[in-house]
Amino acid sequence: MVGLDEAFIQAPEHRPKAHHKHSDDYILSKEIPTIDLSSLQDPHSDKTALTTEIAEACMRWGFFQVTNHGLSLDLKRRVEKTVAEFFSLPLEEKRRVKRDEVNPMGYHDGEHTKNVRDWKEIFDFFLQDSTTVPASTVPEDTELRKLTNPWPQNPSDFREVCQEYAREVEKLAFKLLELISISLGLPGDRFTGYFNDQTSFLRFNRYPPCPNPELALGVGRHTDAGVITVLAQDNVGGLQVSRRSDGQWISVKPNPDAFIINIGNCMQVWTNDKYWSAEHRVVVNTSKERFSMPFFLFPSHEVNIEPLEEFISEDNPPCYKKYNWGKFFAARNRSDYKKLQSESIQIDHFKAA
Ligand code: OGA
Ligand code: NI
Repeated sequence: MVGLDEAFIQAPEHRPKAHHKHSDDYILSKEIPTIDLSSLQDPHSDKTALTTEIAEACMRWGFFQVTNHGLSLDLKRRVEKTVAEFFSLPLEEKRRVKRDEVNPMGYHDGEHTKNVRDWKEIFDFFLQDSTTVPASTVPEDTELRKLTNPWPQNPSDFREVCQEYAREVEKLAFKLLELISISLGLPGDRFTGYFNDQTSFLRFNRYPPCPNPELALGVGRHTDAGVITVLAQDNVGGLQVSRRSDGQWISVKPNPDAFIINIGNCMQVWTNDKYWSAEHRVVVNTSKERFSMPFFLFPSHEVNIEPLEEFISEDNPPCYKKYNWGKFFAARNRSDYKKLQSESIQIDHFKAA
């Protein structure tokens, strides 16, 4: 058949559609909302229309793009340049900052999503250097571990530019969290207390051209585990979102000037399924490499995630049981690292009976 390593081959039902015609897809993709944030520049403007749009997008899609977000596009270009330089280094050099079973940050080229290998290479770093996480996945084990980021020596400006970008994207993420909170009818700072010791991290993804894009995926179908994700991408395209109403895969039209915002598992649980954390995946192609940069806004390890009382009533009982964020994070990292016998941890495992 083909020369593709079988670790990358998706089960037939998860393979991207054959004869993938991007042009048709992008007509559909108009349905994923684009929200203009320019009114945020004026502190006195009325935000009601904006938060209504956000509420609608979070309920129907769990995904939207934002434009006029205020993050410097020049800074975005600078980080893209240094990241591309890093990925073009020889493999031995990149592996000097390789992730391992203790520290999930750094370079990795063997990530698995649902036990199938992804067609990508990545570099991850925590926002807070250092970040405290549980030492093991064992529920009774209370030992903690402080992790620091492994930084490459080359490119020489890599660390500085990445950290500058991370601070800016973090600001945008907290701004969006405030808007999302208001969109739920809650005070703007309702969620702030969950981030005192945040475990957020930034990821750089490089998806190389793939000889068999009909068999493999850049990232297999998954939902993001955290609170929200703020993703920047280039102009190549490949991200697909499962539509909440019918599960159909919809391609996101790439806009390098916009950020893609998506709801993660914690927000879905907090809102007791009002807001949706959509499955998504990345398709690859034979000719063009693609870069993307998701920022995963994650709570402090000690936070227990459960439906908030504001979303519970007699008619609307909690859809999830409580789980600890740090242990969920630790379990997820272990299963991403290599192929395991069992299914990786999902919020469905905490569904109320
Ligand atoms: C992810 C992800 C999408 C993309 O890294 O979790 O969904 O477009 N990435 O790279
Ligand atoms: Ni994702």
